[in-house]
Amino acid sequence: MSVEGFVRALPKVELHLHLEGAVSAATFADLAEKNGVALPAGKRTSDLYSYGNLPDFLAIYDLVCASIRDAADFSRVTFEALERCALAGARYVELFFSPHAHLAHGVAYSTMLEGILDGFRRAKESYGLVATLIPAHSRELGPERGERFLDMVLSERPAQVIGIGLDYNEAPFPPAPFAGLWERARAAGLNVTAHAGEGGPATFVRDSIDLLGVSRIDHGYHVVDDADLVARCRESRIPFTCCPSTTLATTVWRDLGSPDHAIRRMIEAGLNVTIHSDDPPMFGTTLDREYALIARNFALSPETLGRIALAGLEASWLDPDTKRRWKADWSAEIDRLVADHTSQA
Ligand code: ADE
Ligand code: ZN
Repeated sequence: MSVEGFVRALPKVELHLHLEGAVSAATFADLAEKNGVALPAGKRTSDLYSYGNLPDFLAIYDLVCASIRDAADFSRVTFEALERCALAGARYVELFFSPHAHLAHGVAYSTMLEGILDGFRRAKESYGLVATLIPAHSRELGPERGERFLDMVLSERPAQVIGIGLDYNEAPFPPAPFAGLWERARAAGLNVTAHAGEGGPATFVRDSIDLLGVSRIDHGYHVVDDADLVARCRESRIPFTCCPSTTLATTVWRDLGSPDHAIRRMIEAGLNVTIHSDDPPMFGTTLDREYALIARNFALSPETLGRIALAGLEASWLDPDTKRRWKADWSAEIDRLVADHTSQA
């Protein structure tokens, strides 16, 4: 079996996937036309999926958001995103979405939830894939708008909504001002995470841990600039949800083949790295391809890849009972896959 076949077969979780970043160019084209969203002059949707930095990417991401308007649109993009996860070998998905970007176009939060949960139901029916939901606050909007965001999330709270995230352009918007908001979310029983150390410094990773109380860090790459923080994170086992393809467009690490690449250094330093796809069609990738990229570029053994897949399950916000059962099943399955792969090599 090829490395690609092996990593596709590995049972995996997807913990760092943005719904609106998971819209294919073809579906974006359909929805933009249906909903009258104007594209930059002379551009086709597929030409838009290329960017050299995070702000440029986020500008296109906002256009995709603008093209998703009714519950049927949300159901469609959710189902298509989850279908691609299932085909990549994911068994469980925690899905971010960006409510503010739809509220800005007059879409009600209840409409978003209705469509997304319908997409969840269809993915469960077609692929047996289980999914949960993480509304994410854009840090660019600041903590006061964040309080209204949290009010909204708490006012309509189906069981699938399990936590909140913090995303968008990191470097100008540090985590510290969100401390009170994240504390309120935790007190209300939500899980909390935050994008940190993607474009921002190692101090943003540390502050997200110490001030926001996150149970995992999304990206986290700049942790490698602070040896003390690396040692602390190795000790605490805090998970880092890393996304290899994203780093090539949004970070200073643009060569996965380089020994200096942050994800490689994080794995070598013994940090609790898990692998995900972030905005897969927008970065030309899939979850299994993200695993294959690190397998090939970092020359990882099948055992290490299996360990990373299990670390993802452990880092998830599944209830402890399900997690324990799945861990036992997946460990046995992974052991068999590793043995088969090794004997064929
Ligand atoms: N939203 C979608 N993808 C993102 C990323 N990589 N960083 C920040 N916000 C995002
Ligand atoms: Zn992200």
